[in-house]
Amino acid sequence: MAKRRFLVTGALPYSNGKLHVGHVAGAYLPADIFVRYLRARGDEVLFICGSDDHGVPVCLTARQENSTPRQIVERYNTAQHKAFEGIGIHFDLYGSTSSPLHHKMSSDFFLKVHAQGAITKKSSEQLYDAQAGMFLPDRYVKGTCHHCNAPDALGDQCEACGKTIDPLLLRDPVSVISGTRPEIRSTTHWFFQQSLFEERLSEWLEGHAEWRPFVRNFAQGLVKQGLPDRAITRDLDWGVPVPLADDPDASGKVLYVWFDAPIGYVSFTAEWCAQHGMDPDSYADWWRDPECKIIHFIGEDNIVFHAIIWPAMLMAEGTYQLPSNVVANSFLNIQFPNRPVEKISKSRGTAIWIDNYLEDYHPDLLRYYLTAIASETQRTTFSLEEMVTRVNSELVDALGNFIYRTLSFTMRYFDGKVPEKGTPTETDLQHWSEIQALPERLSHEIESFRFRNALAELMSATRASNKYIDTKAPWKQRKEDLAGCATTMYYCIQTTKALAVLMNPFLPFTSEKTLATLGLDPTDLDWDKATDPLPEGAPLQQPEIPFKKMELPEDVTRLSRNE
Ligand code: 2FM
Ligand code: ZN
Repeated sequence: MAKRRFLVTGALPYSNGKLHVGHVAGAYLPADIFVRYLRARGDEVLFICGSDDHGVPVCLTARQENSTPRQIVERYNTAQHKAFEGIGIHFDLYGSTSSPLHHKMSSDFFLKVHAQGAITKKSSEQLYDAQAGMFLPDRYVKGTCHHCNAPDALGDQCEACGKTIDPLLLRDPVSVISGTRPEIRSTTHWFFQQSLFEERLSEWLEGHAEWRPFVRNFAQGLVKQGLPDRAITRDLDWGVPVPLADDPDASGKVLYVWFDAPIGYVSFTAEWCAQHGMDPDSYADWWRDPECKIIHFIGEDNIVFHAIIWPAMLMAEGTYQLPSNVVANSFLNIQFPNRPVEKISKSRGTAIWIDNYLEDYHPDLLRYYLTAIASETQRTTFSLEEMVTRVNSELVDALGNFIYRTLSFTMRYFDGKVPEKGTPTETDLQHWSEIQALPERLSHEIESFRFRNALAELMSATRASNKYIDTKAPWKQRKEDLAGCATTMYYCIQTTKALAVLMNPFLPFTSEKTLATLGLDPTDLDWDKATDPLPEGAPLQQPEIPFKKMELPEDVTRLSRNE
């Protein structure tokens, strides 16, 4: 296949907290799997992410901790980046939306959209918390949903019905900050007129039948309902200042965090270019060249922003291309032993933090389980007990065992070298032809963003490989038919090599270790050559047991302690 070019992004996490399993499962792990796969195919990929630094939560965290927003975002940007690295997710750039370049590019973007006539200024009524002395952002007011009557709906989007909420229409509103009933005050803001792009959005969504249906249907449904003007500025002193110096109304206002955050995808691309000694304008190679495909990986709660508002912003700006796909996972619930299925929540203490997990466990175990239960079509549940069972029976007993027994047997009885192929039997050839079909099958699933199916295919091939070695029983062959035993082990080694290459997107640490044991350079992966055989006589290294059995800590709450 000819070399292709992709810009892959992971939703920018807010920099006022650590990363938990829900974050990783929702956007970043699928993105990393896709990127690793593309790189193994030889495609050119730029993989970017970074922290979403603006918005009220950061200001409130700073206030609570007697700190500054700048200190908060620096702390969490570093912590998030470290957690991503620990779990094997390497971005080409982990940026920060409070950077000067991001501010400059967001201001320019705003001005361009403004000049195109897609932004209007209006005075509006807003909820004001007199006790806290601030206008209340949508998420900081709760009440009864004006669409579906669900109680405790937050003022931006109703979790029960998924619809966008007008906070002024919330029934019995209460400020989340002070617990008091907010008052209504007038303020001036700039609004993005999304409705100007309804027709184009509708055509664009129509043309993307390959998207996950729940993502596309949700977006199409919103466009059909009609898109309201969206306030894209806020009364706040942390963020990108509204860049209209001649307008006195702009003073004390910043761009809404959801206006500047997606522009981070563009500014981080430019930042990466600058860091690599390229002309910063060469970011256009990704953003203006239709040969490059832009793929956004996000969580379910970000669909409206990436499949409606951001594309409409891009249409308004006019010089950038639209994303090719917006790949969203649904939410992940969680189940601790002896507890009901719960939502992942920082405040309720039900989040399993990545840094806590990594203190005790191997990153590939989590990558495995999160992909095996990925919420690609509907919500799924992360159960700690199920994770232990599946990891032990599937990774340890099936994959780890196949790799270890193949390599240790070959080390022991074939002098640490790839045995001679000899004369394969029907069973050998049958097994090998199944393995040879695997790269194409996995490619088909991965290219369709069905990572869970791809992993299932890989594990089914692993089970077939264990069956093959059990059927051939080289430990018996060795005594009766040494040449036949060599043939079996030849194919087991070739299978191990193929699995090591093909597992790379999912289990990169184990893949790299296994490839090194096979005497291969883990940085030189080639998906299309996964089943090219290692030559007879090639030297192997002494293997280590790939995975230890997983056991839960006696006190599982240590995984969810937020310290
Ligand atoms: O939901 C979130 O965590 C947001 N910070 C995601 C932003 S994605 C992008 F648009 F920057
Ligand atoms: Zn509702």
